[in-house]
Amino acid sequence: NWTMGTFIEDTIQEIRRQVGDRKVLCALSGGVDSSVVAVLVHKAIGEQLTCMFIDHGLLRKGEAESVMETFAGKFDMNVIKIDASERFLSKLRGVEDPEQKRKIIGNEFVYCFQEESAKLGQFDFLAQGTLYTDIIESGTDTAQTIKSHHNVGGLPEDIQFELVEPLKALFKDEVRKVGEELGLPHEIVWRQPFPGPGLAIRVIGEVTEDKLKIVRESDAILREEIAKAGLDREIWQYFTTLPNMKSVGVMGDERTYSYTVGIRAVTSIDGMTADWARIPWDVLERISIRIVNEVDNVNRVVYDITSKPPATIEWE
Ligand code: XMP
Repeated sequence: NWTMGTFIEDTIQEIRRQVGDRKVLCALSGGVDSSVVAVLVHKAIGEQLTCMFIDHGLLRKGEAESVMETFAGKFDMNVIKIDASERFLSKLRGVEDPEQKRKIIGNEFVYCFQEESAKLGQFDFLAQGTLYTDIIESGTDTAQTIKSHHNVGGLPEDIQFELVEPLKALFKDEVRKVGEELGLPHEIVWRQPFPGPGLAIRVIGEVTEDKLKIVRESDAILREEIAKAGLDREIWQYFTTLPNMKSVGVMGDERTYSYTVGIRAVTSIDGMTADWARIPWDVLERISIRIVNEVDNVNRVVYDITSKPPATIEWE
């Protein structure tokens, strides 16, 4: 007999009982799970919680700022932001293989977390946004042989913390309800899935600052237009990708030779299968015109009309 009010109250009591007067560290990613955990734990133990937000430089436009505004600002929590983009980008330099990129980012995340948390002193607990479905999935051991998923919450087992996992009996839709009840902003509670390796797997091939900028800017335009068209709740995921290719175009009287941006938008229930979203043509047209006009070094936009399977949602 699950109700929101009793869940939040009971969980806060439970966290207080578990933690006592000791200290908790939480790795905040900006995703809904870690956000809800952070706010719940903060409600329970306040200043005994420190959140660490690692900005790997592979986030979407405005995302790092909005995380800081929400948690350090609105909720007045103790959040340490780590600017690690240099570190991640230099590790990714020259690397083209998708699986290698994923592994590098996953590993670097762990090293970065370990180093930076050590600087913050001693913590007794690590708060994590483990959900009921995470427990089931890791139990069956079929977890992703297609792509090695890196989840920002996924830290190594040999870390010397006890875990605080207040969401481990919940499903995603319940986590969203708790988030709403706790007053988290809509954009976090209803955030579309975003992969741990971030924009690095949306830049096909080698990741560079220039290419990240194209994906970041075009993605921001896409998100804006999808929201304006009122489609943001209907479409499961929508984003842009940067295939590693240039093509010929013409602007004014000039020949151009620039990048192609791909739009990916899918409807899905759980991400396991997906269908390409039937976005109205006039919306697609607006998006295309804006991307070519507003994003430097782009002269062509294509729409991905494959479902999953046979394609996957992300391009890498
Ligand atoms: P694919 O591309 O395999 O993606 O069809 C299925 C869903 O998973 C997301 N995805 C990831 N999520 N870490 C994550 O946390 C990852 O490494 C990762 N790779 C893909 C993808 O965005 C989609 O929602």
